[in-house]
This record gives sequence, C-alpha cells and structure tokens, in this order.
Amino acid sequence: MDVVNHKKKLLLVGSKGMLAQKIAARAAGEWEIIAVDLPDFDLTDQAQVLATVQRLSPAVIINCAAFTNVDACESEEEVATRVNGSAVGTLAEAAHAASATLVHISTDYVFSGTGNTPLSEKDIVGPQSAYGRSKLLGEQSILTSRLEKFIILRTSWLYGPGGNNFVETIIRLAKQREKLGIVADQIGSPTYTGDLADAIFSILASDVDPYGIYHFSNDGACSWYDFALKIVDLARKNGENLKIKEIAPIRTEDYPLPAKRPAYSVFSKEKYCQLTGKSIPFWQDSLAKYFIER
Ligand SMILES: NC(=O)c1ccc[n+]([C@@H]2O[C@H](COP(=O)([O-])OP(=O)(O)OC[C@H]3O[C@@H](n4cnc5c(N)ncnc54)[C@H](OP(=O)(O)O)[C@@H]3O)[C@@H](O)[C@H]2O)c1
Repeated sequence: MDVVNHKKKLLLVGSKGMLAQKIAARAAGEWEIIAVDLPDFDLTDQAQVLATVQRLSPAVIINCAAFTNVDACESEEEVATRVNGSAVGTLAEAAHAASATLVHISTDYVFSGTGNTPLSEKDIVGPQSAYGRSKLLGEQSILTSRLEKFIILRTSWLYGPGGNNFVETIIRLAKQREKLGIVADQIGSPTYTGDLADAIFSILASDVDPYGIYHFSNDGACSWYDFALKIVDLARKNGENLKIKEIAPIRTEDYPLPAKRPAYSVFSKEKYCQLTGKSIPFWQDSLAKYFIER
C-alpha cells in the first residue's frame, strides 16, 4: 500500500537564518518543509526561483532570506536592493504562478521613526537607511505583483537561537568589559523568534482570508539601554560569569554608525490580535524564555 503524505508543503527560503531555524522547528511535524538557502539557492537568481517554485509547487512560501547587515547595506545598496527588493518581486510572481501563499518578513526600518505613538500598518512609511529602502522595495514588489495571497509581516529587534543578535552581543561584551555605554534614545520592542514563528502559523491558521500587511513584535516597549540592563540581569540570574559593573545610557549621536536607525518604532499589533484572537507575550517574559533555551 502506498503511504500518502497529507502534510502541506512549506518552502522555507533563507532557511539557515536565525528566524528560519525557529520557523522550521515550529513547522516540523505538521508541514513538509523544503529548506533552501545560499549557496545552493540564490533568491536573486530569477530563473532558479521560478523553476524551484514551479517544480515544488508549495502551498506556502516563507521568505526569511535577506541582506540583514544594516550598516553594510549603506555601502552595498545595490546588492541590498537586489536581495531585499527586486528578488522578492520574482518570488511573488513565482508564488502567483504556483497558487502559493507568500509570507514575507519585513521590518520597522521602513518607517522614519520620528513619531511617538505606536505605528499601525496604515501609517506612512519613510525609510532612513539603505536597508530600510531595500526592504520597502521588497514590500512594494509584492504589492504591485499579481499575487493576492500574501502576508507581509513587519517585525523589530529580532533575537533567538542560532543568530547574531543584540542579546548575544551584550552577553559577550558583559563578559569582556566592566563598563558599557548603550543607546537610550531609541525606543522599540524586542521580538523573540519563537513568538514570531508562532505568530506566522497563527495568521496562516486563520478562518478568514488573512492576506495583507501585519505588525508583530513582543509586547511592551523599551530602549536599547533598558534591553541591555534586562539582558545582564537575566544573564547573572542564569549563572553567567560577567565582568560588567556599569551600563551607562548614551545618546545615538555618541555612538555613530553608518546606517540611521528609527528613534521610535513601537508597533501597534491590534490587527494581528484581532485576526488571531491571540495575546502577545511581554518582551521581558520572552527574554526569560530565551535564557532558559539558549
Ligand atoms: N534581525 C533583526 O533584528 C530583524 C528585524 C526586523 C526584521 N528582520 C527581517 O527578518 C527576516 C529574518 O531575519 P534574520 O535575522 O533571521 O536573518 P538572517 O539570520 O541574517 O538570515 C537570513 C538568511 O538569508 C540568507 N540569504 C542572504 N542572501 C540570500 C540570497 N540571495 N538567496 C538566498 N538566501 C539568502 C542568508 O544567508 P547568508 O548568511 O549566507 O548571507 C541567511 O541564511 C529578514 O527578512 C529580516 O530583514 C530582521
């Protein structure tokens, strides 16, 4: 007797990345996962993208592939534009041809960050960096494609296992130094990859058509300085041997970087909560979960 595979096919693009690893872990069991990434699969290779999607005919494509080094994007904007921008349009057309749903991950950096109230999906965009412009082009490439079954999920300050992230950077520096200065005038919301992966599957499981743009981060807001204090506190409680004695709040202008960051990028998550009926974990609680897991 033939064994029939009833699992839905999920094409996971950029599968070696930090978020993708968590998505794969969450999808295991329920989905047949086809994981693709560099060097075998290049999102900017139009012919390869179209042929791969046509051959595999997935029900859902989740695109986690991106040029994510925000500062390097400033000097390599052409590459960033290709990977984060135009290639996403090709993926959207491939999804349309295969009748697949495309889930695409975007960022708070599409906003200028000059406001001071939580940003909704309807708020006007205005990227301040090459990375932000390239990611906005990715969104627009989907919106102007023929694809109707798409979910663009904007997120912020992502951390989780298997990636370079702020939490790991702070732990490393706190082991090496006695004093650190951390930017205190940029406000946002950290996002644990496990919660974002859950959110993606909650949206996909919706009874009504979920297509469109969504904002998702952990609940609550903080500065990078507040985030660093909590990381050090939890690291100590979890037995890390730290050298750090003092963390000082500094201003953005005291820590110049090539790419401009949004000063305020807290999301309103009302649209997500209304669709899914789910509540969102607070950032401190999710950070504590990460410390148990790492
Ligand atoms: N990290 C954050 O704080 C943050 C915040 C907001 C939004 N986001 C968005 O969330 C998504 C996931 O982020 P992440 O931090 O998990 O990313 P990540 O760890 O940097 O993973 C991205 C993956 O994409 C791959 N990739 C790069 N160029 C590719 C190409 N041309 N073809 C195929 N694969 C390619 C990378 O391979 P290589 O490593 O070999 O280049 C890597 O495996 C991205 O869309 C990002 O823009 C991230």
